[in-house]
Amino acid sequence: MSSPKAELQELRSILNPHVGSTGATRFKSRYLLFLFAALLSAMYHCAGRAQYLFPLTTRHEDGTVWYNPDFDWEALKPSTSLQYAPCYDGYQCARLTLPMDYWNGTTDATVNLALIKKPAIVPVDDPQYGGAVIMNPGGPGGHGVKFLLRVGEQVSNLLGPSSDDVEGKYFDLISFDPRGVGLSTPNLACFGKNSILEQVWSIRNWEEGSFGTSDVAFGRLWAMSKAKSGSCASNVKEHDIKRYVTTAYVARDILEIVEKHAEWREKETSDEKLLYWGFSYGTYIGETFAAMYPHRVGRLVLDGVVDPIDNLQIAAFTDLSDTEKTMASFYHSCAEAGYPTCALADPNNITDPTLVRERTLAVIETLRYDPVAVIVPEPEVITSNDLRMLIFLSLYHPVQMFPILAKTLADLEKGDGSGSSQMLRPYHDLTCRATASIDRVFDADAQLAITCSDGDDLTGYNRTQFASFAETLTEISPTIGDIWAALRMYCIHYPLRPQYRYTGPWEASPAYPVLLIGNTMDPVTPAINAYKMAKRMTDSIFLLQDSPGHTSLAAYSKCTTRYVKEYFQRGSLPLANTTCEVEEKPFGLKGDARQIAAHTQHMDIADAFLEYGLGMRLLGSA
Ligand SMILES: *[C@@H]1O[C@H](CO)[C@@H](O)[C@H](O)[C@H]1NC(C)=O
Ligand SMILES: *[C@@H]1O[C@H](CO)[C@@H](O)[C@H](O)[C@H]1NC(C)=O
Ligand SMILES: *[C@@H]1O[C@H](CO)[C@@H](O)[C@H](O)[C@H]1NC(C)=O
Ligand SMILES: *[C@@H]1O[C@H](CO)[C@@H](O)[C@H](O)[C@H]1NC(C)=O
Repeated sequence: MSSPKAELQELRSILNPHVGSTGATRFKSRYLLFLFAALLSAMYHCAGRAQYLFPLTTRHEDGTVWYNPDFDWEALKPSTSLQYAPCYDGYQCARLTLPMDYWNGTTDATVNLALIKKPAIVPVDDPQYGGAVIMNPGGPGGHGVKFLLRVGEQVSNLLGPSSDDVEGKYFDLISFDPRGVGLSTPNLACFGKNSILEQVWSIRNWEEGSFGTSDVAFGRLWAMSKAKSGSCASNVKEHDIKRYVTTAYVARDILEIVEKHAEWREKETSDEKLLYWGFSYGTYIGETFAAMYPHRVGRLVLDGVVDPIDNLQIAAFTDLSDTEKTMASFYHSCAEAGYPTCALADPNNITDPTLVRERTLAVIETLRYDPVAVIVPEPEVITSNDLRMLIFLSLYHPVQMFPILAKTLADLEKGDGSGSSQMLRPYHDLTCRATASIDRVFDADAQLAITCSDGDDLTGYNRTQFASFAETLTEISPTIGDIWAALRMYCIHYPLRPQYRYTGPWEASPAYPVLLIGNTMDPVTPAINAYKMAKRMTDSIFLLQDSPGHTSLAAYSKCTTRYVKEYFQRGSLPLANTTCEVEEKPFGLKGDARQIAAHTQHMDIADAFLEYGLGMRLLGSA
């Protein structure tokens, strides 16, 4: 194979052909660099929609509906203490009233957080009661309530005692829709109640494709982000929720939840500690909490770690330092698995990853000028952009997605788009009832407001500067650099500043050592982030998981799972720099039936994170 640098160049010229390398062309192409960001949010808008893209998502054999839309949240009276009512099946729900403004005394208004609990199977005074673990599905903008309903059972099994541990702890699990998000009120919205327009906007955005799609794409996407972010930030009243949604507020809300939980248990509230498990953007919440309230840290697992300093710039070069490694793992694992396990592997069993790579790039290039027409009762067209977005998502979850991606590529190579048309339909169609906000699992508007107000004021950036930033990011990662950079484009056009945000210092001495987990090939939160963060927090431990994908959930590892369980059960930590192997590879599970069962449970949680917020921080900014 040629040198890595030459390979990057080649990849870049195929994926972004409008980005030239010489003077005149270069100047022109700067404006073409771009792609969008909002698009992916289209599919995450509605529960169930994502099943098209992640066909393995639903594993409820009896076909039960996991979420009962009939529970009447409005009838549940908000309270300044935790007043739980039974809800759904075996869960308890509450609406917790908290101050809108904790710091600046600008308003006496309040927010009502929608909160859900899966109670431990032992009472709170039982010696086996271990406390409440608070979870956040990431995003920002992911709905915690629906998330817990979806994975409560699996997470209880994962954190709870092993079958042979008669003294092990049982935990309450608590999640909530963060302020501005989901069922919490007031709700943060940019498009107001007109959600049909909002969905159509997402589809238009998707159809513009990436900046390399055409010579007009960059300008259109730039203008769309300007319109979207600009209108979201305009006519904002003095005490609008949009001014009070930075992650500092979320960390403070979590502190309140911890204290209200202690109060509910009839315990002393002044010293109650947080038990927390966060992924992706959820690690940023954890870091913020640890920096602001270090003495209140009981247990903190941060998995798929965001660098809080880079995060101020919204989309940083360092985010993508391992992305192309993740992409390369597709070629390698496919070639190694061989045909027909991997549909794109060489039929004569030549195990050369270069062949897989060449075919992948050839399909992308062919589709650019010659999209695949799908002749079915409801016609479809599969474009190169559709395919690139599918690749982007696949990098998050290789175990589930690489085999599907390989099959899709092999089909498209033959001009067969029937499989892809099913997966991509939700991106092209208004498949969810436009008025049924209850179906949503993720709020793109909240994501925009939270991301941009956590970050520095970027409104001084002009179009030329941004184009050159995007170009550099595309050089670092030809596969997703343009997709990632769009995040920043939305914030450049978002002038609204928060009342308060936390910007450091990030060095802290938490009351209990933090466990930070990074993967060797994570496409958006490289392991180096976890390593650096562990250095900033006294006695904290960095654990490396040797797998591709976003967060440790991307691949089942007995070793990682055991460390997480032991950390919550007994507070024990791995040695620094421990590496965990995984039990599975993208094109084949290793191990016995018991491991496969563990894998299945694990994958359920991973699917839900993907659907409800994991990584959505970059996917949905419009
Ligand atoms: C709000 O209060 C914080 C903390 O006291 C302060 O740092 C910040 O500047 C204030 N914000 C405004 C807009 O006054
Ligand atoms: C390729 O390898 C697979 C798995 O080892 C085997 O099933 C298949 O028959 C082989 N194909 C050829 C053409 O040798
Ligand atoms: C954009 O900003 C850069 C740096 O401040 C400046 O040199 C350049 O002239 C600006 N370009 C335009 C078109 O305003
Ligand atoms: C852990 O790994 C880092 C980076 O590879 C290295 O600098 C450090 O010395 C290692 N620490 C220990 C205790 O092995």
